Amino acid sequence: MTSKVAYCIKGTFVHATDSSPIEILQNHIMGVNSKGKIEFLEHAREQLKLAKKWRFSESDIRELGSHEFCMPGMVDTHIHAPQYSFSGTALDLPLLEWLDKYTFPTEKKYKEVDFAKNIYTSIVRRTLRNGTTTACYFATIYTDSSLLLAEIAHNYGQRAFVGKVCMDINNFVPNYKETTDESIAETERFVKTFLERKYCRVKPIITPRFAVSCSEKLLQELGELAIIHGTHIQSHISEADGEINLVKTLFPNYKNYTDVYDKNKLLTDKTVMAHGCYLSDEELAIFRERGAAISHCPNSNISLCSGHLDVRKVLEHKVKLGLGTDVAGGYSPSMLDAFRRTMDMSKVLYIQHELGQKIDCSSLYSPRGNQQTMPASKALPNKKEKYTALTYKEAFRLATLGGSQALNIDDVTGNFQVGKEFDAILVSPCVPDGPLDVFADDTVEDIVQKFLYLGDDRNIKEVYVAGKQVVPLPNA
Ligand code: GUN
Ligand code: ZN
Repeated sequence: MTSKVAYCIKGTFVHATDSSPIEILQNHIMGVNSKGKIEFLEHAREQLKLAKKWRFSESDIRELGSHEFCMPGMVDTHIHAPQYSFSGTALDLPLLEWLDKYTFPTEKKYKEVDFAKNIYTSIVRRTLRNGTTTACYFATIYTDSSLLLAEIAHNYGQRAFVGKVCMDINNFVPNYKETTDESIAETERFVKTFLERKYCRVKPIITPRFAVSCSEKLLQELGELAIIHGTHIQSHISEADGEINLVKTLFPNYKNYTDVYDKNKLLTDKTVMAHGCYLSDEELAIFRERGAAISHCPNSNISLCSGHLDVRKVLEHKVKLGLGTDVAGGYSPSMLDAFRRTMDMSKVLYIQHELGQKIDCSSLYSPRGNQQTMPASKALPNKKEKYTALTYKEAFRLATLGGSQALNIDDVTGNFQVGKEFDAILVSPCVPDGPLDVFADDTVEDIVQKFLYLGDDRNIKEVYVAGKQVVPLPNA
């Protein structure tokens, strides 16, 4: 008798649903079909009934070990693959100077496909090991090495969006830019070649770097290309005040930063914009209307002293929101880190609110004379209103289901709803010499929290994308 499912897993499942930021299902059985889709997730008391319907036997069931649980794979909605080579270094300058001194010179090296291969392989392997089942990557301006990143993600089985970066303005590293026509032609070549390769789970994403490095014509043409090919779009918005001032100067005829993207048809329900720290209520309302999403990258916002996003405000505006590592403005390629920084930043906002304080980071870079004045009064919540810090459950939701909604792929992944693809990590909290300890009186919820706050890749025993096991990784 052939089973109608490829495999079954029995144990604890933890995920976010539309009605609950964390649902913990103990003693449940999940069936995954040969296409990697979840056929059922039901209490184990239904085992006999399920076994009859789906024609599986006891030996087809994989039983999870003590304290182990499955949770959805995490969704990194914003990560720069080429910047992985310098992650954990070079965090001593504000955004625009950091781009000029470290980022552009590094990205220039990716013209060499062989150079790119090593680092792109490392970041895909690293993020998969960290439990990132979906990554939304920026590559560089070079089409061939950007296509290589897509191939590597595909070969390792990661779900991904990959963007060839577009920029026709670069006043500081002038040989790291394209002409407007080149940028458009190369983006077309990138998208066409990509689509010919027919990867199932790796998709092209139109990637104007940010308004500062794109002419109006380029933005316009990229907006049109995204419509023609029905592709996703990613960029940066309102990350740091130096950048915002520059956008005001470069685009004087637009209402605000959001308007620059919106008027050029770059704000759609398949758009994800990183940061958004200084977006006004009016701009957030446009995001909501267009169905565009924000990627919250707290490690980067702190590391580059750019600003901070008031996540609560974004959620209240009902704007789609996911989390991003923003490697290497953010130094960690782990979404667990993004979860933790999200919690920390939300609590800092709460403390500031309670104390009625405002942060002034302007002195941070003063020894080098690179001051950037944070318009803190605009960013901070009003003291008179009640401010509610995020719960860990809400941050868990953002790292999983929220990310899939931000990328508009929540019909396929993000939680364990029947019919979705099984993108998951198998967490093993108790590993020898691991980063966390479980004690006798810990509840399942305690253990889940301990993993989110203390765990790392040592606890991520297996990773699945669309039902296929991708971690442990093959040897490099
Ligand atoms: N804005 C434009 N490019 C970048 C980048 O590479 N990193 C960050 N954090 N912000 C940007
Ligand atoms: Zn970024």
